[in-house]
Amino acid sequence: MFDYQTISWQNGKVLLLDQQQLPNELVALAISDYRGIVKSIQELKVRGAPAIGLAAAYGVVLSVWNVDESDRAGFIEKANQAIEEIKKTRPTAKNMFWALEQMRRVLSKNLSLPLRDIKQALLREAQRLQQDDIDRCRRIGANGAELLPNRANVLTHCNAGALATGGYGTALGVLRTARERGKKVCVYACETRPLLQGARLTTFELLEDGFDVTLITDSMAAFVMAEAKVNAVIVGADRIVANGDVANKIGTYGLAVLAQYHKIPFYVAAPLSTFDPDTPVGDQIPLEERDGDEVRRCGGQLVAPEDVAVYNPAFDVTPHQLITALVTEKGVLYPPFSKSILEKIKS
Ligand code: MRU
Repeated sequence: MFDYQTISWQNGKVLLLDQQQLPNELVALAISDYRGIVKSIQELKVRGAPAIGLAAAYGVVLSVWNVDESDRAGFIEKANQAIEEIKKTRPTAKNMFWALEQMRRVLSKNLSLPLRDIKQALLREAQRLQQDDIDRCRRIGANGAELLPNRANVLTHCNAGALATGGYGTALGVLRTARERGKKVCVYACETRPLLQGARLTTFELLEDGFDVTLITDSMAAFVMAEAKVNAVIVGADRIVANGDVANKIGTYGLAVLAQYHKIPFYVAAPLSTFDPDTPVGDQIPLEERDGDEVRRCGGQLVAPEDVAVYNPAFDVTPHQLITALVTEKGVLYPPFSKSILEKIKS
């Protein structure tokens, strides 16, 4: 069983499993200031759309936790300041903006209470969001498991597992449930350059859980599909817009093109907190671009001339035409996605 806790609250501190150090070191960071959360999100110590949302929620709690309980103006100002600063960390994952919205709602609803009680209400909300994420992921797992054959050979990208969420996983949650239901599941994990979330995190998480997992470099995916080694692709998402276009880790789009060519179903698993029905098409998703050194270096080692120009988009957009189905906690959505997404969001 994978039982490392990505994020938790303990005695006025947020404990984060430092994902930059995995799989070599298991280090829990104890963070007592919301700026520590800002930094951890920026540096991908905590990463994955739902987990970033939870870190953001706990960050809001930290921002007010030690504020003097007679300073009402300072309290509100601190919470709002934290929300605005956290929003600037990473632009792509919808879950962070969604979680901050939930925290703002709880803050406004409880404004008339003593500050001590508002603190508790905010903490309860962050913890509720975490439990809610686990529940949603389990339902995603149940809905997605039905899509996989009894002998599933699944290719996945990046890490959409327990580490990326409140504790169960979206894409990897589907694999967990499929296995719990007696299906045989073998996984190909793409290493996911430049930051190697697939190599460092997905293989670690799946091995801990006793899965049959094989690591490949990103450039091997086409050949592995051509050899008929894979009968489904499943990935997570950072943002899914109204027409079904999906932003996810760079490289996802390429895998979707390859899957279509090889007639392999391509599934995206995500909770409804990842959906952004107000953005009509994928072109309008803000895509994060990161420092070129992440590409020039690998595991800290320079692997290219130090001064070479680099383009380093952290995410790409997979057009909805390449997606077989979207797996959510409320069921599996099929094309036309503009219709099925709207129906599900309203239901
Ligand atoms: O840059 P990262 O590691 O935060 O990117 C993560 C991904 O792209 C995941 O696939 C996505 O957030 C879904 S996690 C359930």
